[in-house]
Amino acid sequence: MLSFSFLPFVCALLPLAQAAPLPLFGINFGESAATDGATSSVSQSTINSTLQRPGFFARAAYCETQSLQALTCGAPCDAISKIKILQAGGDGGEIPRFFVAQDPDSQTIVVAHQGTDPTNLLSDLNDVEVAQVAMNSTRFPSAAKGSLVHDGFQDTQGRTADLVLSTVKAALASSGYTRVLATGHSLGAAVATLDATMLRMQLPASVEVDSVVFGLPRVGNQPFADMIDALLPSFSHVTNQHDPVPDVPPRFLSFQHPAGELHITAVDAAGATATMVECPGQENSNCSEGNSLLDASVGNHLGPYFDGISFGSTECSA
Ligand SMILES: *[C@@H]1O[C@H](CO)[C@@H](O)[C@H](O)[C@H]1NC(C)=O
Ligand SMILES: *[C@@H]1O[C@H](CO)[C@@H](O)[C@H](O)[C@H]1NC(C)=O
Ligand SMILES: *[C@@H]1O[C@H](CO)[C@@H](O)[C@H](O)[C@H]1NC(C)=O
Repeated sequence: MLSFSFLPFVCALLPLAQAAPLPLFGINFGESAATDGATSSVSQSTINSTLQRPGFFARAAYCETQSLQALTCGAPCDAISKIKILQAGGDGGEIPRFFVAQDPDSQTIVVAHQGTDPTNLLSDLNDVEVAQVAMNSTRFPSAAKGSLVHDGFQDTQGRTADLVLSTVKAALASSGYTRVLATGHSLGAAVATLDATMLRMQLPASVEVDSVVFGLPRVGNQPFADMIDALLPSFSHVTNQHDPVPDVPPRFLSFQHPAGELHITAVDAAGATATMVECPGQENSNCSEGNSLLDASVGNHLGPYFDGISFGSTECSA
């Protein structure tokens, strides 16, 4: 169940994280070679024009299905009040909440997935038995040779994949739009990355498929990461300061991020303005890959990221 309140939970977790023995977050931290590349700054106006709407959609995915459908979930719904929800579901547990919507402002069909609570995610992803499996050839008919993904992420994506695909296809046909955006936060970011991969493989080339996700854990191995780079050149994943989630599962278990990291190095006190850099390459040691275990912050996983956007059920008023 994800209806618990995040804040007390995170406060309770922080001392635990600090006192934890090294293997808790698995990590890396400096052991493995990373691609160094000079970062360049991303302005707040670029953040507003390219990342704000995906952030709004990913945030609303945490809200209960009924209030989302009625667009009465408070600030997360107010921010996206012109959208038409085409499909919404999930149980907030085994099947994280999700929706498919038509966004007239950006002429886009949007797919958004809820995340999960970060401690469960961190402990699952640090399990050394974390299994990599071949990609399902029905959903991913042109998966690259040797591409393997996290077993649990693929299972979770599989619980909504057929409905997402059929709803998106029908929505593209009825709206005449030619653009799809897949977004999500945390576990929802992993599911959205797999959705974008599936949609790119199964929709005609005339449809643009984009994916912008937040707090993404590593989803698959090196051939998977290379495939994402080739298939989804606009793929972006936003990482917030000392969030430990983007550093799991660890690279020594053969997990690798695709390119497209946008790393937040600071957020102002109001949670409105972010200092952000674009990080070239797949694993840039100037960005999340360079984080130290000593200052890991689960609070950074939840936010704020920018424009007052934080993630979790507590953001929804109903
Ligand atoms: C990136 O990291 C390298 C070495 O780790 C450093 O020399 C360089 O100044 C960094 N670049 C930026 C833009 O931070
Ligand atoms: C970005 O958007 C926020 C909230 O929508 C707004 O308050 C802010 O002025 C915008 N900043 C820029 C630089 O466009
Ligand atoms: C592969 O995906 C298809 C379509 O979602 C599904 O029906 C099938 O059960 C999946 N196969 C496995 C082994 O999970």
